[in-house]
Amino acid sequence: MKKKSKKIVIGNMKMHGSLAFNEDHFKNLLQKLNTFNNLEITLCVPYPYLFQAQKILTGSNINWGCQNVAKEPEGPYTGEVSASMIKDFQSKLIIVGHSERNTAYCESDENIAEKFNMIKKHNMTPLLCVGENLNEREAGIMEKVVAEQIKTILDMYGSDIFKGSIVAYEPIWAIGSDSAASPNQIEKMCDFIKQLININSTDNDEVNIVYGGSVNAKNAVQLCEINGVDGVLMGRSSLNTNEFYEICNGISKI
Ligand code: PGA
Repeated sequence: MKKKSKKIVIGNMKMHGSLAFNEDHFKNLLQKLNTFNNLEITLCVPYPYLFQAQKILTGSNINWGCQNVAKEPEGPYTGEVSASMIKDFQSKLIIVGHSERNTAYCESDENIAEKFNMIKKHNMTPLLCVGENLNEREAGIMEKVVAEQIKTILDMYGSDIFKGSIVAYEPIWAIGSDSAASPNQIEKMCDFIKQLININSTDNDEVNIVYGGSVNAKNAVQLCEINGVDGVLMGRSSLNTNEFYEICNGISKI
């Protein structure tokens, strides 16, 4: 398999942080990660801290982004935040379809597809999260579940929309737990996702697949070495500067 030039490391802060915490955390990350130019590093912050992320991280090798977006461009949608607003702060990437949103806010696959399209329209990178829950894994229907999540986007917009995007395989049972999925489970699913999307791509617009779910400094290198895995998406580890650094440091040496 062809070796990618840059591995991807994405942090999802979820609903954590404060002005004071971020000030320290972003500045420490800036200092500690500045030599990792062979990595594509992005931190997804809560909306109110976009300006702060932009202010502190501009000019560094760390990109920033968000964890959700409205599917509509603008209008009377109380509480929503549009792609153009997020783009105003020079965000690079937006997470869509995270299982925590799907479960708590009943997000449909159609909604997710429209959001994905909106992010592409604004020249940002959509990071689509897919994955099965424990019952689905135990019933052996994980590929069917992931296929349904991806197929809605394929059916609505065609496979080319995936060019330059990132898909995160995040088995729901591994998120916030003690252990990541096994290399074998991850490799099989990444391969399945690549085949399903199946685009004719060049190096610049291919679809990248990352793994998420209990990524930490101990397992990150092993996870990134799995065939078909282009990087990692981490939740808890993105809030700890040293853990974040150790993860980048390990992966940068692969
Ligand atoms: P975790 O979360 O790394 O804390 O397991 C991952 C995620 O939800 O993206």
